[in-house]
Amino acid sequence: MSTMAADSSGDSESRPVRLSPSILASDFSRLAEEVQAMKAAGADWIHLDVMDGHYVPNITFGPPVIASLRKQTDLYLDAHLMIAPVDPYLERFAEAGCDGITIHVEAGPHLDRSLQCIRSLGKRAGVSLNPSTPVESLKWVLDRLDLILVMSVNPGFGGQEFIPATIDKVRQVRELVRDRPIDIEVDGGVEPSNSQQLIEAGANVLVAGSAAFRSGPAAYADNLAALRTGTPPS
Ligand code: DX5
Ligand code: ZN
Repeated sequence: MSTMAADSSGDSESRPVRLSPSILASDFSRLAEEVQAMKAAGADWIHLDVMDGHYVPNITFGPPVIASLRKQTDLYLDAHLMIAPVDPYLERFAEAGCDGITIHVEAGPHLDRSLQCIRSLGKRAGVSLNPSTPVESLKWVLDRLDLILVMSVNPGFGGQEFIPATIDKVRQVRELVRDRPIDIEVDGGVEPSNSQQLIEAGANVLVAGSAAFRSGPAAYADNLAALRTGTPPS
């Protein structure tokens, strides 16, 4: 069973697979403890789903919550901004202490400029593709990118069913990226039943909400191990 992501030549190079549990599935009333429990369970990153009730039909949290969390953890904070327009808020998310900021292709009129802005704020720049967003939309911004997030559900809610065509899309993104130092992340409906196919297709960061936080803190280590190996927890 693979714990390394494939590179463009199909080989497994030393690109470690990272798990980024989404706090969307956590108990928000105990956020700091939830994140600390995930760290103890082996989480590599923490995924922050920011929703505005406009770009997506749901509202979550914003910079003040992230700034509070920043004081409680040294884990890499992987912000996924599902907001439009996004440009007016980039500085505030950077100041809140995100390590990476990922925006959607559709979140503003000038993707290249938004990505330059994220890097100029000292953060790693990511772009997210919705299920219907073509891989080609990345072609002319590749040199501005540190991460590509492939959505495997339509953004807005946790607990949705994984869209199987995502596996082929990840393969196409891996082909496009080749040996550039860009993370390929998948988000939505990621479970032990599809994690290995995603890794084999070329993903090296897996986001998981439901599958990571299922059954409470005592189960987190088993949940993460299951995602890494593809064997469901017993
Ligand atoms: C959906 C979010 C995802 C979601 C993942 O808009 O971007 O991060 O919370 O949750 P699960 O793993 O439950 O699909
Ligand atoms: Zn997300």
